[in-house]
Amino acid sequence: MPEFRVGETDFLLDGRPFQIISGALHYFRVHPDLWADRIEKARQMGLNTIETYVAWNAHSPTPGTFDLSGGLDLDRFLRMIAEAGMYAIVRPGPYICAEWDNGGLPAWLFRDPQVGVRQYEPRYLAAVREYLNQVFDVVVPHQIDRGGPVLLVQVENEYGAFGDDKRYLAELARYTRDAGITVPLTTVDQPTPEMLAAGSLDGLHRTASFGSRSTERLATLRAHQPTGPLMCSEFWDGWFDHWGAHHHTTPVEESAADLDALLAAGASVNLYMFHGGTNFGLTNGANDKGVYQPLVTSYDYDAPLDEAGNPTRKYHAFREVIARYHKVPDSVPLPPQPAPTLTVELRDPVRLLDAPQRWKSWQSYDHLPTFDELSPIPRLALLRTRIDGDRPSVLTFGEIRDRATVFVDGNQIGTLLREHHDRAIALPRSNGELLVLVEDLGRVDYGPRIGEPKGIIGGATVDGMPLSTWDVLPIELTAIPDLRPDGTPATPFGPVVMRAEFDVDQPADLFLDTAEWGKGMVWLNGFLLGRYWRRGPQRTLYVPGPLVRAHGNEIVVLELDTMLSPEVSFVPHPLLGHTEA
Ligand code: GLA
Repeated sequence: MPEFRVGETDFLLDGRPFQIISGALHYFRVHPDLWADRIEKARQMGLNTIETYVAWNAHSPTPGTFDLSGGLDLDRFLRMIAEAGMYAIVRPGPYICAEWDNGGLPAWLFRDPQVGVRQYEPRYLAAVREYLNQVFDVVVPHQIDRGGPVLLVQVENEYGAFGDDKRYLAELARYTRDAGITVPLTTVDQPTPEMLAAGSLDGLHRTASFGSRSTERLATLRAHQPTGPLMCSEFWDGWFDHWGAHHHTTPVEESAADLDALLAAGASVNLYMFHGGTNFGLTNGANDKGVYQPLVTSYDYDAPLDEAGNPTRKYHAFREVIARYHKVPDSVPLPPQPAPTLTVELRDPVRLLDAPQRWKSWQSYDHLPTFDELSPIPRLALLRTRIDGDRPSVLTFGEIRDRATVFVDGNQIGTLLREHHDRAIALPRSNGELLVLVEDLGRVDYGPRIGEPKGIIGGATVDGMPLSTWDVLPIELTAIPDLRPDGTPATPFGPVVMRAEFDVDQPADLFLDTAEWGKGMVWLNGFLLGRYWRRGPQRTLYVPGPLVRAHGNEIVVLELDTMLSPEVSFVPHPLLGHTEA
């Protein structure tokens, strides 16, 4: 069997120096029918390795589950990498960051506030161990010393940016070895002396994450690890986008020059990302360094292979750089073709406020519960109470996580946003129903806010008097595509569900233009593509070809705000929004 190890100056594959030229490709962000295509394009660019995180909360949406089917079939993904003649790196976290909801940690784990986050705490560790065992059941047989593609397994992720609990890291390493992982173990940290010291242990090979100033960063890494191969485990060749900000791009020539410097130094590299893919469904994370900033649906990342799997200028520039050091395949992927265009009308509006009791019943509480007190934890919920005000008043919330629209007697009063630190709103005079529609826009994936609860935190008051009796209705999102109009006339403003059908000549990738819509979510043939939001920068949603059929495609939109025009429109190219320049 082949052998892979950490040598004095290089990685050694069967005793010979081996430079890892890897690219990140998250199987959980790409339609499984397209995995082979993306892997082949990585090979054509000259990469010899594919790296992936494993997203715990994707595999375990509820406690006691571990789903390995369809788009979560890690075993199949690793097999496909091997079939392409490539190697693999697996980074199972348990925390992965990755601009992914809660950095990959399942929200249900922190329902009990006693459970520690990324530290040596028995309840947290018990859950982590169970998770890692399930992942390693899949990974162990794919290791290189068993004839598979896996060269390296990473422990935690940039732990030095979060904590310095060495007992915790040692415990993770122990679980990994106990589960049968025999390949070298790595850690990754941002290359500062503090983080490199805090984020690793002797016996784990230290690597760094950065996107520029390669030579200087490698020198810092070397200062903290006198021997062994140098590796940039995340060479940031692009960046991610927040709603309401600009679309990030990185200059191709600069990125290529930094990659060149890395390869010239003999360092190993993992491009973060080779192909970013999509935060399908409601899987995006968020940042919060004082202002909450949720991530958009696209994870294009300005990566060499774009969100739709098409080669970019960066792809060809990187291929040229790699070709200076290693032989690259002769063939290259075809240039992108324009996607089919068409426009159809949305119809059959069903107003959510008229309909929720049709698929779920209200639950009563003697306080205002957070989302995390409910089971399963919802992403969108209606909260209802009664007010009796003979004059206008002020409704105040403890904290909004992350967006709340307030209705009095069925009329929309206004929307409060976490990122604006909104907490209060004026109510008109009413002796009636107060309804609040609350949306979780994605859990923070980096920093001390990982694991925090969602919904309304700290209850609500009217003119300082607590509102204690509440009915709660978690919106069952999977039921939305099946919601049919019941003959009640409905006006097409939000929250409203509308639908359209369309045919295409030939199933292909599509780009859904959401410029005429407000804010909401959209399903194609029952699959939740993700969120859209007029504030951008993202304007089109990527629809992978394998979701599209020739006849009878069904689009269902949940519009939470107001549409300019109730139409579905597909355009030829992606529109990810304005850039900074
Ligand atoms: C860090 C994390 C990654 C990702 C990048 C930014 O390096 O380790 O998961 O969040 O930042 O894209």
